Amino acid sequence: MQVRPIWWAKGAVMILDQRLLPWKRVYLKCTRYQQVARAIKNMAIRGAPAIGIAAAMGVALGVYNLKSNRNLEGNFDKICQTIIQTRPTARNLFWAIERMKKVFLRHKKKSLSELKQILAKEAQIILEEDVATNRQIGYHGKNLIKMGMTVLTHCNAGALATGGYGTALGVIRAAWEEGMRFQVIADETRPYLQGARLTAWELQQEGIPVTVITDSIAGYLMAQGKVDLIIVGADRIAANGDTANKIGTYTLAVLAKNHGIPFYVAAPFSTFDVNISDGCYIPVEERRGKEVIFIGKKRICPEGVNALYYAFDVTPAEYITGIITEKGIITPPYKEKIKKLK
Ligand code: MRU
Repeated sequence: MQVRPIWWAKGAVMILDQRLLPWKRVYLKCTRYQQVARAIKNMAIRGAPAIGIAAAMGVALGVYNLKSNRNLEGNFDKICQTIIQTRPTARNLFWAIERMKKVFLRHKKKSLSELKQILAKEAQIILEEDVATNRQIGYHGKNLIKMGMTVLTHCNAGALATGGYGTALGVIRAAWEEGMRFQVIADETRPYLQGARLTAWELQQEGIPVTVITDSIAGYLMAQGKVDLIIVGADRIAANGDTANKIGTYTLAVLAKNHGIPFYVAAPFSTFDVNISDGCYIPVEERRGKEVIFIGKKRICPEGVNALYYAFDVTPAEYITGIITEKGIITPPYKEKIKKLK
């Protein structure tokens, strides 16, 4: 069974609150674009493609609620700006806003009610395209997984992180659907526990055997030859293939190279940022240390202790065996191939 993390419901955006999973399935009904922005910032919805879809739907919702087209462009920009300021790393957010903006500029002279319909439609197309794209990623990546393998993944790059099906988990799903039998190791992914809560939950529902480990166990497993393949998602990929993904990905990639384990990134082209030459220009989100200090409501450090929380890190392209996209697997050297395919 597959979950729907987000959908458009005529004048509302329905968002599955991922902070409450796997314990509770609660949908937030957002009737104002500011609520969508808050849901992105507070991580009720997360994962780069899902953030992009939420951004597009937030824009559509903002326009949907306008009473007249007085100062239409000013209002549109205000909506976009509010959403842009939620999370800085996921390229898909900016990509989706740019796409909505293009549609807005093309149709802004139409009647307001027509414009509302057009933008709502576009946001829904972005969602539908994302699911189709993920299926293509799955199709291209599935043969990497062989019978009996142990595949390690980090964070959650599944149906929940996208419009549906997933990127890294899309590859895993596609291989499973083909009849391949294997097991998955899911890093718990401190501090938000996307791996333990979300990836484990998704895979369990598919009947795919999954074992959760603390992030720091991964290296020891690799050293013992207990990991055959690593597949992760991405938040932003620079023109040279350097990839930002959930904090801890870089560590995995370096360890994988050291142990001769193939390390793949699965991502749609909406995650590529060819305007950024390499990873050092990718804006990495820094969240409040408080999110590290507390697990749920429980404080785990003494009062007065500081904590640092970078939400992402950047893996240099040299550590990446290949990038699985909807157009096929890109292998090094990345720069020219990315340019050509993009
Ligand atoms: O902070 P999050 O949960 O939004 O981070 C998510 C990730 O890092 C995912 O791996 C990435 O967005 C790819 S999702 C298909």
